[in-house]
Amino acid sequence: MVRALFWTLVYHLEPEKWGELARFEPIHPSLVEALPSGLDTAVDVGAGSGRLTAHLAARCRRVTAIEPSWGLLALLARRLPQVSPVAGWAEALPVGDHWAQLTASCAAFGPDPAVLAELRRVTAPGGLIALISPESPDWFEAHGWQRMTAPAIPAPDHPAWIDEFFGPLDPPHELLTLRVES
Ligand SMILES: C[S@@+](CC[C@H](N)C(=O)[O-])C[C@H]1O[C@@H](n2cnc3c(N)ncnc32)[C@H](O)[C@@H]1O
Repeated sequence: MVRALFWTLVYHLEPEKWGELARFEPIHPSLVEALPSGLDTAVDVGAGSGRLTAHLAARCRRVTAIEPSWGLLALLARRLPQVSPVAGWAEALPVGDHWAQLTASCAAFGPDPAVLAELRRVTAPGGLIALISPESPDWFEAHGWQRMTAPAIPAPDHPAWIDEFFGPLDPPHELLTLRVES
C-alpha cells in the first residue's frame, strides 16, 4: 500500500524524477526487437514519459499514448511530438474498439480483469497485446500468454541520487504477449 502510494505520488508530483529513472532503466533491446514493426496503429497504456512509446513510434505509423499523470504526459508530448498523447486510465481506455494492431504497456499493470478486458477491446482481431515486465508474470504465463525472458543487464552509469531516492535499478527484461483471435 505504502509502496503503491509512493509511486503514485512520484508520477503525479515528481514526473521529472520518474523520467530520469526511466532513462537509466532502458527496456532490454531483445524485447524491443521482438515487437512487431511496420504496423499502422499502436497504443501504449500507462505510457509514463515515453520509455516504451519511443520504440513504438519507431515501429508504427500512428501511436496513441494513454497516461493519467498530466506531468508525465507533458514530458512525453515534448519528447515525442509525433505521438498522440491522451489523458486516461487503463480501466476505461479512451480508444475505440479494435483500433490498435499492437496494444502495449511497460511496467504498469498486473492481471487486473478490468484492464485486461480493455486491452482486448481496443486490440484489432489478429493484433497483439504485449506487456513488458508486468506484475505477476507467472499468472500471465499460466493463462496462455507467451513469455520471453531476456538476461538481466545492469543499469547504465547513473547519478547516485537515483538509487538513493528509488532503490536499486532494474531495467525491464520480460515480455508477455497474447495474440487476439481473428
Ligand atoms: C512504472 S511507470 C511505467 C511508465 C512507462 N510505461 C515506462 O515504461 O516508462 C507506470 C505508469 O503507469 C501509469 N498508471 C498507473 N495506474 C494506471 C492506470 N490505472 N491507468 C493508466 N495508467 C496507469 C502511471 O501513471 C505510470 O506512468
